[in-house]
Amino acid sequence: MTTLASINHTDGEVQDILEAQAVLWNHSLSYIKSMCLKCAIELRIPDAIHSQGMPATISDLLSFLSIPKTKSRHLRIMMRLLSCVGIFKSHITPSGEEAFGLSPVSQLLTTAFPGSPCSSPFILFLLDHHLVDPCHQLSRWFRISDTSTTPFEMAHGKTFWDLTGAQPELNDLLNKGMGCDSVFVMDVLKHVGREAFNGIGTLVDVGGGTGLTAAALAKEFPGLKCTVFDLPHVVNSAKKMEGIQYVGGDMFLELPPADVALLKWILHDWSDEDCVRILQRCKEAIPPKDKGGKVIVIDMVVGVGINTQTSLETQLLFDLEMMILVTGKERDENEWRELFVAAGFSDYKIISSIGLRSIIEVYP
Ligand SMILES: C[S@@+](CC[C@H](N)C(=O)[O-])C[C@H]1O[C@@H](n2cnc3c(N)ncnc32)[C@H](O)[C@@H]1O
Repeated sequence: MTTLASINHTDGEVQDILEAQAVLWNHSLSYIKSMCLKCAIELRIPDAIHSQGMPATISDLLSFLSIPKTKSRHLRIMMRLLSCVGIFKSHITPSGEEAFGLSPVSQLLTTAFPGSPCSSPFILFLLDHHLVDPCHQLSRWFRISDTSTTPFEMAHGKTFWDLTGAQPELNDLLNKGMGCDSVFVMDVLKHVGREAFNGIGTLVDVGGGTGLTAAALAKEFPGLKCTVFDLPHVVNSAKKMEGIQYVGGDMFLELPPADVALLKWILHDWSDEDCVRILQRCKEAIPPKDKGGKVIVIDMVVGVGINTQTSLETQLLFDLEMMILVTGKERDENEWRELFVAAGFSDYKIISSIGLRSIIEVYP
């Protein structure tokens, strides 16, 4: 082991120790990256750059965003950091000034393209203090043997679902975040995994939130009749969309009948025992396989869709996020298979991967 306490160390070893220190500092301060991302969205910097149509200088941004000139240096440091980590792109203007443009990452944060997916509401949900605060409870949580309590519950005194039910602002943040993800996924489905939805007569979107997934599916597949099923407070606060049926209830008790039950980003919220119960309710709601019955799961399959260090890290981060907020987890293919078998399904097929998530068809 190389430490500075050793008496004889080579220049290379000293460099390694100093590099290790930089890595440690970087990890310790990485939350500032997340918070600057949140700040950039709240200030609507991606929209400001987009509406300018070319990279924006700091004075462009100050005047566009009505930020006092006294904050010029501060805004520049934040934009330099966000460019350094790939969120914006730094440029030099013909007159030699530093300017900031959109990168493929910040293009996903603009609201400027109507009808096209904007990820900002989902990022604001992930970075809300209700979701970030429980991270401070992690070491305390590891010391208790009970796995049914979450760090979220330790921080807020309520489960995630009870708090979203009790706080309309948090419920709104969750629903807007999920809604924008639905638009994003449905846009991707036009290119990848579309075959999973071909030829379906009726579909119930279990935990379907405010119905954006169902509305996009109904538009893309004319003739498909969709029902959105979610908790009563979610269904009651949803803006109803024409042609979509809304049913409030509890997915652990009973589901409305349909040819296909869709579970998009549901099962990773729950423990294995809870997932088996949800899947059993789905099986009761659909016809047999030879009559077209199936469950479509859209969720991560750990190890699938991984081609970079960032994608590997992101799947691990989501696994931890599920551990912190709810009693769920991200699952690998073996864990998925075990759930499907335990719930009485005969077979499954991973249809395709959409980024870090996969589309799985599960047959009764
Ligand atoms: C992570 S969100 C996913 C929403 C939507 N499927 C999507 O991907 O955009 C989980 C959803 O499950 C719903 N939910 C939680 N517990 C439920 C229950 N017991 N019965 C029905 N829905 C429930 C939540 O209200 C929320 O809309």
